Amino acid sequence: MVKIDLTGCDSFVGKEQFNEYVNKALAAQVVLEEETGAGNDFLGWQHLPSAIGRAELDDCLSVVDAWLEKEIDLVVVIGIGGSYLGAKAAIEALSHTFAAHLGTQGMKVVFAGENLSEDYTAELMDLLQMRNAACVVISKSGTTTEPAVAFRLVKQHLEETYGKEEACSRIVAITDKARGALKSLSNQEGYKTFVIEDNIGGRFSVLTPVGLVPIALAGFDIEAMVQGAKDAEKALAARDAANPAVQYAAMRNLLYDQGKKIELFASFNPKLQYLGEWLKQLFGESEGKDGKGIFPASVIFTTDLHSMGQYIQEGERMLFETVVTVDNAQREVTIPTDPQDLDGLNYLAGKRVEHCNRMAQLGTKMAHIDGGVPNIAIHVDQLDEYNLGQLFYFFEKVCGISAYVLGVNPFNQPGVEAYKKNMFKLLEKPGY
Ligand code: PA5
Repeated sequence: MVKIDLTGCDSFVGKEQFNEYVNKALAAQVVLEEETGAGNDFLGWQHLPSAIGRAELDDCLSVVDAWLEKEIDLVVVIGIGGSYLGAKAAIEALSHTFAAHLGTQGMKVVFAGENLSEDYTAELMDLLQMRNAACVVISKSGTTTEPAVAFRLVKQHLEETYGKEEACSRIVAITDKARGALKSLSNQEGYKTFVIEDNIGGRFSVLTPVGLVPIALAGFDIEAMVQGAKDAEKALAARDAANPAVQYAAMRNLLYDQGKKIELFASFNPKLQYLGEWLKQLFGESEGKDGKGIFPASVIFTTDLHSMGQYIQEGERMLFETVVTVDNAQREVTIPTDPQDLDGLNYLAGKRVEHCNRMAQLGTKMAHIDGGVPNIAIHVDQLDEYNLGQLFYFFEKVCGISAYVLGVNPFNQPGVEAYKKNMFKLLEKPGY
């Protein structure tokens, strides 16, 4: 199970104060689980893992089988925000870091529709020209501009290259069951379609086909991921002060109320860079409203100790950090002896690189605590599908509890509309 270590907060908060916030978090947990709080029509994610059975998994895997048979080697996953970040985070975490350069066989997943850069789009089209391609288009609303633009281009390419009928078998749409342009288009063209249920918001949708189909297409074990989430669903339902989701929600709210307005999500494993992006969306879009909310930021250490380290150590004291820690590396690399020792590194000879990483992590924790930055550590055993499933569900649960402690509706995002209205007006969209 995901573990939490709050010892890095000991010098910042008193025991009684913490207990007071644990009680607040336990009360918020009841509101969340009994579905009596704001946004309670968006709680489908809570029991989602236990609702996923063999049939749901097989439906996702049927796309993999069909496309392997066609020897598809490139899958363009089109989506933005909650419609791509979970899949991207999982695929980045599970893939070989240099997968793009290894020349291995099989389907490669790339993402599009998460920006409006013309250069990015043109380069995507370059890649499509060279590959045997298919596409998964994901939009809950079915009306979001960025993925719609990318999909129009990719759809046209597939139809021109493979013919309309074959293109249809190379497109999967994941969208609302009834509403939106993508739904009407899919009905008309006859695409295989997965439904995003009404009661699951985008940023809580990684364990639906929104995340599971792309993750399966990238070759990863979605059954293990769902099992991890199922186990987390069960464990985190405990109404108990020792529940790590309750403890984390309590501590982050306590720190916020003490003026720590920024939560820095950190990891000492670069494979978790996009988990940081997913976390920023999950917490930022859920909590940042009504003039309140912890501002989520993310860093990868030790890399960013050489860019952001100075600020974290000595800048304005409004930060706390949450370090997602993978306890066991998957691979072993030992630092060799060098007879000349010109670099002076022989004191590390025979030690694992991961040992150095651990010592860097410990040294950073001590330095940041000394510098006034409380430290929360979230631990998982290893970086695999099972543990990622646990992490996804854990953070979703924390987010729901934490936002209720803060006093906001975690499940809407009214502020996202502001830029869209201006953009539509500037683009002269009919009706704006
Ligand atoms: O969490 C959310 O609801 C948002 O981030 C959406 O996922 C994002 O705006 C994309 O929306 P849609 O899936 O409707 O295209």
